[in-house]
Amino acid sequence: VTVTSRSPGVEVHEFLDAELSCEFRTENDKNPRIEWKKIDKDVSFVYYDGHFIGPFHGRAEIKGATVRLHRVTQTDAGKYRCEVSAPQDTITLGETNVTLTVLVPPHTPSCDVPSSALTGSLVQLRCRDRHSIPAAVYTWFKDNRALPIQLPNATYTIDEKTGVLTFQKVSRADAGQYYCEARNGVGPGKSCSGTRMQIGDVCVYVSESVCVCVCVSVCECECVSECVSVSESV
Ligand SMILES: *[C@@H]1O[C@H](CO)[C@@H](O)[C@H](O)[C@H]1NC(C)=O
Ligand SMILES: *[C@@H]1O[C@H](CO)[C@@H](O)[C@H](O)[C@H]1NC(C)=O
Repeated sequence: VTVTSRSPGVEVHEFLDAELSCEFRTENDKNPRIEWKKIDKDVSFVYYDGHFIGPFHGRAEIKGATVRLHRVTQTDAGKYRCEVSAPQDTITLGETNVTLTVLVPPHTPSCDVPSSALTGSLVQLRCRDRHSIPAAVYTWFKDNRALPIQLPNATYTIDEKTGVLTFQKVSRADAGQYYCEARNGVGPGKSCSGTRMQIGDVCVYVSESVCVCVCVSVCECECVSECVSVSESV
């Protein structure tokens, strides 16, 4: 018996059907035995003795040796093996592997944008969508304009794979409304809502106790340690 698969790597969108192709040709055997297994850490039966087993019961069909899985989810992703045994053939056993990837469109990413930061400090903005498959790539927007990845005199760097936007030394010009978008080519891109990042200078206010304030604008002071009188320090 010889066993092959028309598509050893199957990519299917979540909740659609997946076809796990297995084709065989026997020499003499008219009634070969067909089995499907799922290869995880353990090996478990998918199809055995003419029946679908466990989680595959009632949601799969077989035609020849090719299996059709209905409404696949992430738990179905992985490696499958089709085994055909034909005791009356010279070669009595054949197998083929099929890998199923279940594609997941982007979810709304979680965005971490500080509301204020000190001039000259290192600031990182983070964007993450843990669900999308394949993994998302990220675009950052400032005041509704995409920030280019490569820009000669950029004051920032962007890692589009990790979603981290870094300002080595943030300046007042970097203040603005920031949001990011996750894309993976499977479904529409998803964005988080924008957050305003303000950049301020350090003011030192000396009174009964010394304290440091981050001034994000002339009339607004955010204290990083206890401040008695914020307005006087501006
Ligand atoms: C299928 O995968 C197994 C490992 O899980 C490997 O031992 C075997 O050689 C593969 N078979 C084929 C036909 O590629
Ligand atoms: C980059 O900075 C240099 C020096 O500050 C300047 O001469 C040059 O024009 C800048 N280039 C761009 C593309 O802004």
